[in-house]
Amino acid sequence: MIKSMQTLTKIIEAKFRESFNISGVSPESPVILVEASKPEFGDYQVNGVMAAAKLQKINPRILAQKIVDNLNLNTIAKKIEIAGAGFINVTIDDVYLANYIAGLNAKNKFGLELAVDMPQTVIVDYSSPNLAKEMHVGHLRSTVIGDAIATILEYMGNIVIKQNHVGDWGTQFGMLIAYMIEKAELDGSKSGMSTNPENHKSADLVHTIGDLEEFYRNAKVRFDEDKNFADKARYYVVILQNWQNEGAEGIKVFNYWTLFKDASLKHCEEVYNKLNVKLTRDNVAPESMYNDKLDSTIQSLYNKNLIKESNGAKCIFFAEGELSGGESTPFIVQKQDGGYLYSTTDLAAMNYRVHTLKGDRVLYVVDARQAFHFKQLFIVGYKAGFAKDNTILEHTAFGTMMNEDGKPFKTRSGGTVKLIDVINEAILRAKAIVLKRNPDWSEADRASLANKLAIAAIKYADLSKNRTSDYIFSFDKMLAFDGNTAPYLLYAYTRIKSLVKKVNQDASQDLIERNKVNYKIKLTEHKEHKLALHLANFADMLFITANESYPHYLCQYLYNLAGLFMQFYESCPILKAESSDVRFSRLALADLTSEILAVGLNLLGIETVERM
Ligand code: ARG
Repeated sequence: MIKSMQTLTKIIEAKFRESFNISGVSPESPVILVEASKPEFGDYQVNGVMAAAKLQKINPRILAQKIVDNLNLNTIAKKIEIAGAGFINVTIDDVYLANYIAGLNAKNKFGLELAVDMPQTVIVDYSSPNLAKEMHVGHLRSTVIGDAIATILEYMGNIVIKQNHVGDWGTQFGMLIAYMIEKAELDGSKSGMSTNPENHKSADLVHTIGDLEEFYRNAKVRFDEDKNFADKARYYVVILQNWQNEGAEGIKVFNYWTLFKDASLKHCEEVYNKLNVKLTRDNVAPESMYNDKLDSTIQSLYNKNLIKESNGAKCIFFAEGELSGGESTPFIVQKQDGGYLYSTTDLAAMNYRVHTLKGDRVLYVVDARQAFHFKQLFIVGYKAGFAKDNTILEHTAFGTMMNEDGKPFKTRSGGTVKLIDVINEAILRAKAIVLKRNPDWSEADRASLANKLAIAAIKYADLSKNRTSDYIFSFDKMLAFDGNTAPYLLYAYTRIKSLVKKVNQDASQDLIERNKVNYKIKLTEHKEHKLALHLANFADMLFITANESYPHYLCQYLYNLAGLFMQFYESCPILKAESSDVRFSRLALADLTSEILAVGLNLLGIETVERM
């Protein structure tokens, strides 16, 4: 487990723990330190006293008083108050807070180095499209959420291994191979497809397949209309499964399959590039990779006495109550005809991730509709020893993407929407917005901003919502400059940056950028204090974001940061500050705010811009 220590909250919590102990509170009663829910409660609030008092059967206010009397927060707090039924409210001392945030910088990751001391190996399974078809909107959420989580975990010092568990196996591939071979035989010369796949360069094939979605549809039509074709498709699946022993035909089928996968992956990479998602070929760990482990996977399950046969299929049954909701559906790992399933591959993949890759924690960033599969998978995985008792397995589930009418996202004709089309549409809309705002910019500058803005908007709209709920996709909302949106945050960032620049220029040699000179932050105004406190909480927030895999915590933090900065800026003049000390100090606050905004956005996979 990641352990946490010495951030501001950890320091305060430790002091309270000390006092809890001296005051006779059992070590089992937690302190529960949280951010104050209302400004009049100060900065932090300790909520653990009531439960502790209940356990000891004493009056909570009396216990709270005892704890406050025994508390040593001398230099740390400027005010400690008992409130309500036994809450303890704490306001941090301005000098202490100023010194604390003055010590935060990019090198110590704004306090994060203080928060993490036991890195884990974390496997993140994300994006994971089926290669038979083109990526559709359903893959957007897995790709964007998974990438943000992986980046955050990495920033925290963990070893992150990304696994793009692409679907490259199953009967559809027989159909696609049959269609490729048929096309090659029919119009090989016209389409540039030769019957010998070794003559193909993958680039040609990408071209020939063209629209993957259409290619799949046409193949499916052939499969449904022509029994001979369907038989061939099934035959090719069998050949493919055992291609090494099938001579020339085996090699041919294998080569077509490889070419098709390569072409399909190129489509994925086009999307990843546009989205600025850092998945590469090295991260591709396809389903087929586990083919030669499937027999031994079944064998392990037998050895553990987990398998029972039912109608010829090999199944794992669950005890009553083991699956919630009165469910008792067994987990099928091998079909009657000997074929393996999605579930079998997932068990083999789990074994590989835990025992070969040495994952301490495995995240599956997959649609919530697969929750039942993962519930079964994890139970079986632990029982079979594919996961260790202390392995953390998590289904990082996300809801469905809906259109503005609250219905699942579909094309007008009811088909699935291609991801690349959604991205291109967002870019078009962003272009119109940028043109309106900056008609005097060069075309190239406008295009570059529109691109970044569109991608930022798509990602942020997704990441800023609680991932477990269904989510309404709205181009208008995500591209708006007000509200909790990417344009709002990017704009706030450019404003702070240009402000810092301007103050630096106007004040000439007087002011030098933060970190280049040894000056003190001084907090006198309430708005300064509140902004500083929020800056101090960055590391704690990120720690929770990573532990719970909820990127919206980080989004909410950044949105609040921008808001607190604007309030500070309105009431605390920087350039016109009463003295150069105060000017320095406020400039440092602005600078630190812009740094944390940039780091936070980058962690979400969003590039900042210098002007908008
Ligand atoms: N290919 C699957 C799909 O498109 C997602 C795979 C998720 N990962 C896993 N290990 N099951 O639904």
